[in-house]
Amino acid sequence: MASITPISQTQPLSNKRQFSTTKLPTHFTASSNFNSSVLTRKFSSASHSTAGIVARSLKKKMVIVSVATTEKQKKRYPGEAKGFVEEMRFVAMKLHTRDQAKEGEKEPEGLPLAKWEPSIEGYLRFLVDSKLVYDTLERIVQKEAFPEWIIWDEHACMSEFRNTGLERTGSLAKDLEWFKEQGHLIPEPSSPGVSYALYLEELSMKDPQAFLCHFYNIYFAHSAGGRMIGKKVAEKILNKRELEFYKWDGDLSQLLQNSREKLNKVAESWNREEKDHCLEETEKSFNFSGDILLLILS
Ligand code: HEM
Repeated sequence: MASITPISQTQPLSNKRQFSTTKLPTHFTASSNFNSSVLTRKFSSASHSTAGIVARSLKKKMVIVSVATTEKQKKRYPGEAKGFVEEMRFVAMKLHTRDQAKEGEKEPEGLPLAKWEPSIEGYLRFLVDSKLVYDTLERIVQKEAFPEWIIWDEHACMSEFRNTGLERTGSLAKDLEWFKEQGHLIPEPSSPGVSYALYLEELSMKDPQAFLCHFYNIYFAHSAGGRMIGKKVAEKILNKRELEFYKWDGDLSQLLQNSREKLNKVAESWNREEKDHCLEETEKSFNFSGDILLLILS
């Protein structure tokens, strides 16, 4: 995670709706606007031949600009060739600190995972808040269509994200039951989990691209860094017991691959602006999840 710095509750919710109907790549849209507005406006009063020469030269420039823009995009969106999930992964990996993952670019801050001193109470707070977040995600994708969702489904096909096999609510419920049987008190959800759940609810109604950024980061982070964290905590305080939270029915890499393909397919219908908006949400996802992870050390 980028920084496990407490924060996110203070971030304002975006009111920006993301239901753009344009399906053209941004660079194409820009040049066609240019074609229809600037050219017509500038040359309507010039003589036909002069306008013709200038227009041809401008068209040439437009082609060059268009090629340059395409190349710039290739450089600007690493991973693009492999599909949108690779773009999301690239942005996410850069937000890790260098000691968290080798692709991480942020300076290490706080204690490295190896030096964490978790407590059962803190870990329970983390599990309870994580369950609230997974409950929320999994309930949202199961919801039947209502007016807002018709727009949603046109743009993101919520039904694609039902029953992916990555769901964690059931496994977390079993783990909390086990802790209860061991005599531990199960706490109520706390502020980091409640804030994240509310935020996800809000996004689900108005911002499919941002919502799917959280969907991706939550499930994929848990399958990577999340499992490492679970193993470390189990070694330190659970006598190496592997919780259900870290077990999946079936082959995890295949389940992740299936979800990658669905996310890639949905994102194919997004224009560049919508994709960028999704990528920009990554940091918020890190901040919210980072706050929940910090509970382990509370
Ligand atoms: C202590 C905290 C964390 C640690 C130690 C950690 C570590 C890692 C590691 C080792 C990987 C695998 C890198 C690879 O494929 O070579 C990874 C992947 C990833 N992490 Fe984290 N991470 C942490 C927190 C987070 C958080 C808070 C998020 C976002 C909510 C996140 C999102 C991701 C994503 C999306 C991937 C890519 C997974 C994939 O490609 O399958 N990580 N992380």
